[in-house]
Amino acid sequence: MTAAVRVVGISGSLRQDSLNTKLLRAAMALLPDGMTGEIAPIGDLPLYNADIDAPRSERPAPVQRFRDALARADALVIVSPEYNYSIPGGLKNAIDWASRGEDSPLLNKPVALMGATAGMWGTVRMQQAFRPVFQYLNMQPVNKPEILVAQAPQKFDAGGRLIDEMTRQLIAQQLQILKVLTLRLKNR
Ligand code: FNR
Repeated sequence: MTAAVRVVGISGSLRQDSLNTKLLRAAMALLPDGMTGEIAPIGDLPLYNADIDAPRSERPAPVQRFRDALARADALVIVSPEYNYSIPGGLKNAIDWASRGEDSPLLNKPVALMGATAGMWGTVRMQQAFRPVFQYLNMQPVNKPEILVAQAPQKFDAGGRLIDEMTRQLIAQQLQILKVLTLRLKNR
């Protein structure tokens, strides 16, 4: 039997009632058989500063915890809002902390990206802003289907559950492709 593909999910929003965190929870619940998921928080990370970035054992504890969580993962699921047509600062900060060193747990990793907005564009510009980041880290994004959840407040019920069937199907499809991509890369 093949071991499960381990996924770590990251939300780009720290807001208690975040649409994107709800979307991330929905995605974790839609993982196909053979995938397991955990969510790695980013709200406790200090601002990136190379003076306090150091090899293992010397990094700030929240940074090391975050990097260790990513290192346990075979693949990532990033779910984020768009801030000012780009990647939210807190999320970019987390990526920066995880990106340094030959032991960076982001290098070469498969990743699925999605996002939700109250508006009409569904985070398309944030997702475009991620492309060069993925390129620099040689990450392996799932290119299609894109998950752009526009007018998101209408797509969750009062309990925060994703109720839009089309979105649920697209997420399930994207995660299945992430699984296939991850297994292909693992067995290479
Ligand atoms: C936004 N919002 C936003 N929306 C958008 O479609 N394009 C954008 O560039 C921005 N920029 C932006 C900047 C900042 C600083 C904030 C706080 C908000 C609106 C944003 O999509 C909306 O607040 C989402 O609900 C945020 O996601 P969460 O927190 O619900 O996950």
